[in-house]
Amino acid sequence: MLLLGIETSCDDTATALVADAKRVLANISTNQDAFHARYGGIVPEIASRRHLDLLSAAIEHALREAKLGFVDLDGIAVTAGPGLIGSLLVGVASAKALAYARRLPLYAVNHLHGHIFAPFLENDAEPSYPLLALLVSGGHSQLVRVASPTRFTIIGRTRDDAAGEAFDKTARLLGLPFPGGPALEQLARTGNPKAIPFPRHRADHGSLDLSFSGLKTAARRFIESPQAATTLPADIAASFQAAVIDVLLNRLTRAVEQSEYRCVVLSGGVAANGPLQAALQNWSQRHQIPVHIPPRRFCTDNAAMIAAIADRQGSIVRADPLTLTANPQLPFTFSEEQLLAHAG
Ligand code: KG4
Ligand code: ZN
Repeated sequence: MLLLGIETSCDDTATALVADAKRVLANISTNQDAFHARYGGIVPEIASRRHLDLLSAAIEHALREAKLGFVDLDGIAVTAGPGLIGSLLVGVASAKALAYARRLPLYAVNHLHGHIFAPFLENDAEPSYPLLALLVSGGHSQLVRVASPTRFTIIGRTRDDAAGEAFDKTARLLGLPFPGGPALEQLARTGNPKAIPFPRHRADHGSLDLSFSGLKTAARRFIESPQAATTLPADIAASFQAAVIDVLLNRLTRAVEQSEYRCVVLSGGVAANGPLQAALQNWSQRHQIPVHIPPRRFCTDNAAMIAAIADRQGSIVRADPLTLTANPQLPFTFSEEQLLAHAG
């Protein structure tokens, strides 16, 4: 099955052509960072206007790159939520129009489900269930038990900031450009991760929830303190990054102590972080659980993961091109009724 994927939930205008949830024939992404950088964060109105300007060309670009036409497609997959409403609407409206005009099946998928299955793109490995997903992006940080491509249970979530948000805010305090995550990682390369003992939040015993507000406040206090003047910024960045990694791995360890998992997936924009990936590979060897991490181009927002998850989920995400609406708060789990209606 060959699907065109369209992803516009945030600030990346992305299109892709994916065969059988695996083979990526084209993966186009136009990053809008330059337009948002001067505001220090994403401006929703600018993001949706840029999507409008860029999306049609990005769809044509993907088809041209794969040397395919609309006649070759078996369907269109689009991110229906969660995300910024204006941004989502641009992708959803285009997908609906194309599906209607070309009489193609339309699939409306959850952006976060796409992230969870991203490691299996361009990869012979297949997920083994139950799978434990650590989803860390700019808007979400959660631990998910995945029993199949349609059965998800959130077993831990952040009580305040998402991991990416903590990276972005701390990077900003350090005077780094937006987006902060990659810039902070770069600065941390020459720093000492043990220079400053930032707090590692350990929520009430047994809980798999995450929290980054204490760490973020500690980092802000330190950066604003007189001590900062005599500390290398690289040391602050490396110490902060090490604390985030510790918190994330601590939760993974708790999760595998509480229940059995056949593999672990690390995904979302923060999964692109090199030291986090290295720490997780190490953790994987210690705990004897295989870990799957997508290559960088599939970690951050992309449309290949959207086409792939639509293929895996099938009829449960089939949508009507006349009535589909974008949903910024799209529920993460399917209802039992939905699951039963599409069983088998
Ligand atoms: O998944 P994503 O592309 O967009 C959302 O759906 O949120 O994630 C973007 C987030 C940003 O907060 C960005 O700073 C963070 O991922 N990020 C990183 C790195 N690359 C991206 N955080 C830490 N280290 C990185 N290398
Ligand atoms: Zn994302």
